[in-house]
Amino acid sequence: MTMPQQLQGRLRLPIISAPMFLGSGVDLVVGACRAGVVGTFPALNLRTTEDFDGWLTQIETALAEPDASGRRPAPFGVNFIVHHTNKRIEADLEQIVAHEVPLVITSLGAAKEVVDAVHSYGGLVFHDVTNAKHAAKAAAAGVDGLILVSAGAGGHAGGLNPFALITEVRTVWDGPLVLGGALSTGRDVLAAQAAGADLAYMGTRFLATSESLVSQEYGDMLVGHSAEQIVYTPSISTIPANFLRESIAAAGLDPDHLPVPERVDLGHVTNPHAEEPQSTTSTTAPKAWKEIWSAGQSVAGISSVVPVAELVDQLEAEYTQAKGELLAVLGE
Ligand SMILES: Cc1cc2nc3c(=O)[nH]c(=O)nc-3n(C[C@H](O)[C@H](O)[C@H](O)COP(=O)(O)O)c2cc1C
Repeated sequence: MTMPQQLQGRLRLPIISAPMFLGSGVDLVVGACRAGVVGTFPALNLRTTEDFDGWLTQIETALAEPDASGRRPAPFGVNFIVHHTNKRIEADLEQIVAHEVPLVITSLGAAKEVVDAVHSYGGLVFHDVTNAKHAAKAAAAGVDGLILVSAGAGGHAGGLNPFALITEVRTVWDGPLVLGGALSTGRDVLAAQAAGADLAYMGTRFLATSESLVSQEYGDMLVGHSAEQIVYTPSISTIPANFLRESIAAAGLDPDHLPVPERVDLGHVTNPHAEEPQSTTSTTAPKAWKEIWSAGQSVAGISSVVPVAELVDQLEAEYTQAKGELLAVLGE
């Protein structure tokens, strides 16, 4: 296990609050960092580079001062889509460099130019992957860490079991590893470490906070759904992703008989988090992400929507308890 030096001593718990389209905004990022875990958001949550610049300034300002006890907030991060269809790559990267964003989470493409640009100011690049093939490519591009998005994750989830994914990726990568997919408790964070990850990547769990951008109805559905009610399908966003069953039904679709998308391969995706559904079934189809809501199987651990500071307190208590129990079992 290897925690990058830039994160050492900066986190209360080894957790990244994962970037979420239409879910993570300034308040969630600032709240997470103030609570002692890495807060992140996707650059494409903003419609323009100017707005992206604005959010970066707000976050930097809010995190500039230590808290009353003198503790520095955790570093924040940005999710950056490195795909030729993202027309803002150059302009957004300029902002990332200008603001010296501490952690850049790249998706869809791992480019050496991006890595070099972020390294120029001492920032970190973590790349998210769902298989060992893409992990090897990202390693070759010089990234600092890999985020393994396993089965059951919110958003565009992988299809592999986390143990299988970690074991395969470890054959091509011995650097920092982040595990994501269906983690919802402090015990899960400890389990991710036991499995060989340095950090846990939690999205859905942080969506159920008062600081996230989701509506009250969305929050209620996160609380009300069981893991079994999460629907994994390529039909809604072209790439296989997990959605709340009731939101699919509320949008007038039958969760058990979803249309088969005509194109499912990444090379054809215009924007993986586009607001318009990319399946070509109907021009009046409900909007993915905005009307059909994503969540992972980690809804299993969500029983209420709470302030992010409270959530991190709870995760810490669970983590500490699980650690004590595990040490007792191991006889130490
Ligand atoms: C509503 C929602 C939106 C998401 N949007 C993005 C995104 O814009 N970029 C990205 O890299 N991942 C996105 N994800 C995936 C998360 O970053 C992360 O991989 C995932 O939430 C981890 O699994 P978990 O939800 O089970 O914790 C999204 C997830 C959710 C639930």
